[in-house]
Amino acid sequence: MEDPAGFKAVDGAAADYFVRFLDTRRSVAGELYVKQVIKDLLDLGPGLDVLDVGSGTGDDLAELAAMLGPGGSATGLDLSSTMVTEARRRTAGSGLPIEFVEGDANELPFEPATFDRARAERVLMALPDPQRAVHELARVTRPGGMVVLSEMDAGTIFVNSSNRELTRALVDGFATELPTPDAGRNLQRLLMNAGLQDVRLVSTVIQNSVAFTRMLFADRIARLATEQEADAFWAELEQAEQEGWLCTGGTNFTAAGRATT
Ligand SMILES: C[S@@+](CC[C@H](N)C(=O)[O-])C[C@H]1O[C@@H](n2cnc3c(N)ncnc32)[C@H](O)[C@@H]1O
Repeated sequence: MEDPAGFKAVDGAAADYFVRFLDTRRSVAGELYVKQVIKDLLDLGPGLDVLDVGSGTGDDLAELAAMLGPGGSATGLDLSSTMVTEARRRTAGSGLPIEFVEGDANELPFEPATFDRARAERVLMALPDPQRAVHELARVTRPGGMVVLSEMDAGTIFVNSSNRELTRALVDGFATELPTPDAGRNLQRLLMNAGLQDVRLVSTVIQNSVAFTRMLFADRIARLATEQEADAFWAELEQAEQEGWLCTGGTNFTAAGRATT
C-alpha cells in the first residue's frame, strides 16, 4: 500500500514509494525549515560523533557529516534494508565520515555513551513504544551531548477542502493507523522521562504542496471515496494552489534535551 502509515515496515512491494515520499517531502519549504531547526539544535562542530535513528535515504545525515570534519563520525541506523541500501548508494564515494547500519530504534546496537549528538526525525510516530526508543537514544549519548527529536503530529493535519467529511475520514484514518500519532505533542515528556535536561521545544506549522498531499493521501482517498469524489477533491486543491489559497499541512514539534549520565 502506498501510504505513509506504513513507515513502520518499509521493506516490501511498495518500498520504492517510501523513498519517493521522503524525496518529495524535501521539496516542501517548511520541511526544510524544520531540518534546519534540528541542525541548529544539534549545535554541530568538527570532531563530534553523530547518530541519526530512522535515517531513511541518508540525505539529512550526509548534510550533517559534512560539518564534522575528519575527526568526527556520522552513523545512520534504520530498520529498513531498502533505506540502508539507498542511503549507502547515495553517499558512496562522497568521502564523508559516514556509515549506515540496519537496526531497531528500540534496541540500539551501540555501547552506552557512544555519541555526542543523536537525532530522530519522524520515527517515533511509527513506534508503539516511543519512550523505549528515547531511553535508548539517551543511553547511547555521552553526558553533555544533545538528543533532538522531531515529529509531525498526525492529529494536527489540516486540509482546506470543501469536502469536510472526506477530509476528516482521511486525517482520522491516517492517525488511527499510526502506532503513535501524537508522538509530536509528547516530545518534551519523552525526553524528560529519559532523564534529559534543559529540554526545549520548537513548534512549526508546515504548509504542504498538492504534490506532497498526494503522496500522503492518494492511496487512502482511492480506498475511501468514489473516483468522482476523489477527482473533485484533487481538482479543488489544484485550483487552490494555482490561485494561491491552498492551506494544507500540519504542526511539527521539534524538541532537544541534554544528556546527563
Ligand atoms: C518517515 S521516515 C523518516 C526518515 C528520515 N528521518 C527523514 O526525516 O527523512 C521513517 C524512517 O524510520 C524507519 N523506521 C521505522 N521503524 C523503525 C525502527 N523501529 N527502528 C529504526 N528505524 C525505523 C523507517 O524505515 C524510515 O526510514
